[in-house]
Amino acid sequence: MVRSPVRRSVPSMDTPDQASPNAATPAPAATAPVARPAARAVDAVKIYGRGDTSVRALDGISVEIPAGRFTAIMGPSGSGKSTLMHCLAGLDPLTSGQTWIGEVSLADLNDQQLTVLRRDRIGFVFQAFNLLPTLTARENITLPLALVGDDPDPDWFDTVVEVVGLADRLGHRPSELSGGQQQRVAVARALVSRPDVVFADEPTGNLDSRSGAEVLGFLRRAVDDFGQTVVMVTHDPIAAGYADEVLFLADGRLVDRLADPDAEKVLARWAQGEDPVGSAPGEGSTA
Ligand SMILES: Nc1ncnc2c1ncn2[C@@H]1O[C@H](COP(=O)(O)OP(=O)(O)OP(=O)(O)O)[C@@H](O)[C@H]1O
Ligand SMILES: [Mg+2]
Repeated sequence: MVRSPVRRSVPSMDTPDQASPNAATPAPAATAPVARPAARAVDAVKIYGRGDTSVRALDGISVEIPAGRFTAIMGPSGSGKSTLMHCLAGLDPLTSGQTWIGEVSLADLNDQQLTVLRRDRIGFVFQAFNLLPTLTARENITLPLALVGDDPDPDWFDTVVEVVGLADRLGHRPSELSGGQQQRVAVARALVSRPDVVFADEPTGNLDSRSGAEVLGFLRRAVDDFGQTVVMVTHDPIAAGYADEVLFLADGRLVDRLADPDAEKVLARWAQGEDPVGSAPGEGSTA
């Protein structure tokens, strides 16, 4: 079943009956297009392996991620979505081409500078949650800050934890949490330091529809209310409908883009024959 995404009527997490400031009105200045991209890639090539077994995961892709916007990335399995996110976030080096976070060219940074940049400016929700098994949910969420001796802003921590529905699970270890709960810990961990850019690789892929809609609503609100930049990979047309724009990848290239998407538009684009979505409609749907 496909319902309209709720990106402009996301319930507020602490004032549930207060409409989003965006409700049925033009985007406010805070979310208007801005000149400076939060991240970008130019002629990015990523080749894994060598010789006959090498894989060209990114094939000269150029893309800009606008600041203060919610960008979705879709495409068939193996089209390079995760690779693009990893390279933009400085987790994996390119074979050739360049990536920037803000005005910083990642190729100019040594390993230590890259580590600092990732710590201070990037939040990443991995496709596999990458939680530390010996730490509780609370400790996993605050780990990036704890590593540098910081404590989270208590109000923001409470807000994030409440929205992702983990308030009563903070003392549990990942092995004591469901897959969906582990994914929510990973989302909270990426958001708690308020990074410049949050990269989320299928953040709702393991969530039930209600939890998925809450996480997507929260990401949407982080963009609208706090100017957060969010980039999200998804296979779900409904999840993509929360974004401001969808980028479609195929074979390591940018093949299409769709502004102001909703699930129907995404599916229509799919029906045009390019199969940009890569999975059946409704599979893993989040609303
Ligand atoms: N570490 C690696 N070593 C070798 N090949 C890799 C590696 N990581 C990814 N690849 C290959 O690169 C290509 C792109 O992979 P990537 O993970 O970016 O795809 P994706 O679009 O995220 O797919 P999915 O939707 O299944 O997550 C695939 O062919 C994949 O097999
Ligand atoms: Mg992937």
